[in-house]
Amino acid sequence: VNRTQPLSARILAISGSLQAHSSNTALVRLAANLVDAGTQVDIFDQLDHLPYFNPDLDLEPAPAAVAELRARVSAADAVLIASPEYAHEMPGVLKNALDWLVSSGELYAKPVAVLCAAPSAERGTFVRHALEQTLDAEGARLILSATVAVLPSQRNGDPSSEVARAVTDALRALSGATTSRGEQGLF
Ligand SMILES: Cc1cc2nc3c(=O)[nH]c(=O)nc-3n(C[C@H](O)[C@H](O)[C@H](O)COP(=O)(O)O)c2cc1C
Repeated sequence: VNRTQPLSARILAISGSLQAHSSNTALVRLAANLVDAGTQVDIFDQLDHLPYFNPDLDLEPAPAAVAELRARVSAADAVLIASPEYAHEMPGVLKNALDWLVSSGELYAKPVAVLCAAPSAERGTFVRHALEQTLDAEGARLILSATVAVLPSQRNGDPSSEVARAVTDALRALSGATTSRGEQGLF
């Protein structure tokens, strides 16, 4: 190991939305493009490949898509989740993925930031609360939770500086959380 190189935080970014022109997927793509030196962002975009969670399927070897999700979360130092709110909750596909991580425990002690891209900044309080509860149940360390107002015109790139700032803040908070873990000698 070259100790003069700064530690590079590996962040796994997951969008809770499957729709093609998703504002939440726009946030995770922006995260991958904005990264500072010393931060790598990997996007997990296979929520729709996962089977419906069923404890009867939660055996070794796990279904291939589940094994992939678990390996990608495990390899990450931190996780960024960007999710829409559906009927005051997170989308079922996202809850399904988080349910697959309960028994295997990849989120335990993992720094996680939650963003909710919504049409206005007052939205998203219910889904963020729901995510915070689920992440807490799985032992994750919630680092940041924020709603980001994303206009329809901003879904295909050309993000405003405010959107970019919110994503950068989340990445820096996650990166800082992994560094402080390292300084405490926890990895
Ligand atoms: C089925 C459905 C339910 C929704 N429920 C809510 C809701 O409870 N609260 C809210 O603020 N927005 C709600 N919305 C709006 C979405 O959260 C919002 O449009 C979001 O930006 C979509 O994210 P996306 O562009 O990443 O897919 C709902 C949208 C759909 C399609």
